[in-house]
Amino acid sequence: MKIITHSAQETVKLGALLGKRLKAGDVIGLVGELGSGKTTLVKGIAYGLGASEKEEISSPSFVLIKEYKARIPVFHFDLYRLGGLKDVEQLGIEEYLFDQGVCLIEWAEKMKVLLPDYLQIRIKIKGENKREFAFSANDNKRYISVLEKL
Ligand SMILES: Nc1ncnc2c1ncn2[C@@H]1O[C@H](COP(=O)(O)OP(=O)(O)OP(=O)(O)O)[C@@H](O)[C@H]1O
Ligand SMILES: [Mg+2]
Repeated sequence: MKIITHSAQETVKLGALLGKRLKAGDVIGLVGELGSGKTTLVKGIAYGLGASEKEEISSPSFVLIKEYKARIPVFHFDLYRLGGLKDVEQLGIEEYLFDQGVCLIEWAEKMKVLLPDYLQIRIKIKGENKREFAFSANDNKRYISVLEKL
């Protein structure tokens, strides 16, 4: 399934729609080049999950993981600076995946082998303000149903 947006604001709205459908245990993997809109979409998803609009949602580049208070906890990962899978083990990232929250993971492909099934969103830059979001549920029933309602 593919969706095009024409502004960052439209991407936040798309994220919010998705966020409303999510529940604890869901894992979303965001894939796409620098500046494609991963964090912008995360912002929308967090708002859709009930995070306050006052909450500062930005890439947690130095800490790798940020938590936002929402209807259920939201864990925002940015693995851009992740060296290798050894780092993942050291940081104990996996523990979050079994927590009672939603995980939103920028650069998810970097720890793909350690992740459970996730809803993948691949973002492509199509123009200055145009972005394409390609959703894949990878045959996972839960994620298929999330996408059906989107
Ligand atoms: N349709 C759009 N959707 C999302 N962002 C857009 C859109 N059009 C323009 N932009 C701009 O593109 C940039 C996207 O930045 P964002 O931080 O979300 O990307 P990112 O993929 O998280 O980058 P990084 O890999 O550096 O973390 C913002 O400056 C935003 O205003
Ligand atoms: Mg980002």
